[in-house]
Amino acid sequence: MIDDGSPYGLIDAASIVVEDGRVCWVGAADQLPAGMQPDVIHRLDGALVTPALIDCHTHLVFGGSRASEFEQRQLGASYADIARAGGGILSTVAATCAASDSELLRSALTRIDALLAGGVGVVEVKSGYGLTIEHELRMLRVARALASQRPVTVRTSWLAAHAVPPAYCDRADAYIDDVVIAGLQAAHAEGLVDAVDGFCETIAFSPAQIERVFDAAAALGLPVKLHAEQLSDQQGAVLAAQHGALSVDHLEYLAPNDVGALAAANTVAVLLPGAFYALGESRQPPLTALREHGVPIAVATDCNPGSSPLLSLTTAMNMACTLFALTPEEALVGVTRNAAAALGLAGTHGVLAAGARADLAVWDAEHPAELSYWIAGNAPVARFHAGARL
Ligand code: NIG
Ligand code: FE
Repeated sequence: MIDDGSPYGLIDAASIVVEDGRVCWVGAADQLPAGMQPDVIHRLDGALVTPALIDCHTHLVFGGSRASEFEQRQLGASYADIARAGGGILSTVAATCAASDSELLRSALTRIDALLAGGVGVVEVKSGYGLTIEHELRMLRVARALASQRPVTVRTSWLAAHAVPPAYCDRADAYIDDVVIAGLQAAHAEGLVDAVDGFCETIAFSPAQIERVFDAAAALGLPVKLHAEQLSDQQGAVLAAQHGALSVDHLEYLAPNDVGALAAANTVAVLLPGAFYALGESRQPPLTALREHGVPIAVATDCNPGSSPLLSLTTAMNMACTLFALTPEEALVGVTRNAAAALGLAGTHGVLAAGARADLAVWDAEHPAELSYWIAGNAPVARFHAGARL
């Protein structure tokens, strides 16, 4: 797959040459320059090779389960009702704080293994189920540990502005100062933070509160992203774009008139059809306006215990096509090149091009649309991480 304007950038009968974990040449095999004869050759005859997929939005470090809330929702309670009654994110916070480091790591490894088996090579992991400095940092230490135990690149996001904990009931501004900003400084000093995220929503934080978090991120030189316009229009996406956000995520309630702000900032629109599906939403993100403005669109699992218990990125691709009317090509770009951009990894990940990491997924597929076509059960037949066959 290359970026030459052809559908999917597909090359027939291609060769990929790898050196020191990076692609150094890709093209039609019969054009392979003389002198580029590698020591080791992996013949993948007839297979489709894509960049390893990138899941650019997950909450996969957490304790407990929310299956009982799923039951409540099936009996009529809404996600927001459950959150207001002290369930929702706060019930996962309690379970996460009660779990030991090794329990958190073990369950997160099980989840990341499922994602990796499905062709993923880069995973973003958020904090946000600790809501104290100690537990938010602990979540990101576990996230970092995942990359030392598995062949995966992990990018972390500081999401202490995920929910207001009971100890700060009606004092969200104090929580922003005491935990979100003070903790961010501590986490950054420990090298735990690649980006800063927040949840801008009536049941979470206001745009003014999120802006204070973004200012703290800017002071540390960290990029920002935002859960925006998931359940209502708070103008969070516009605010994030004004702060040069890497991405704005969810976006069901984003007004078409506000899409231009994303385009101007080259902010990626991350669509999360798993949450839309699981919460039984009906309002769709403004896909027509996103396309018209040329906003890069990414797709992710949003793997989390509440709104998106989903461990397959190709299933998220299928849902993005069936629920949001993406084309299979948009879905594939959305889990490769554009997902890399949403993580600040444009050019080095999510593309097959000279200089990019040789993270590859090999599929027994005749056509790239097959990656989005299967609802579930799709998996690559081989994977490479930094050039090494797994
Ligand atoms: O991306 N929107 C907020 N955060 C998560 C849900 C987290 C949860 O319910 O535990 C999301 O959907
Ligand atoms: Fe999320």
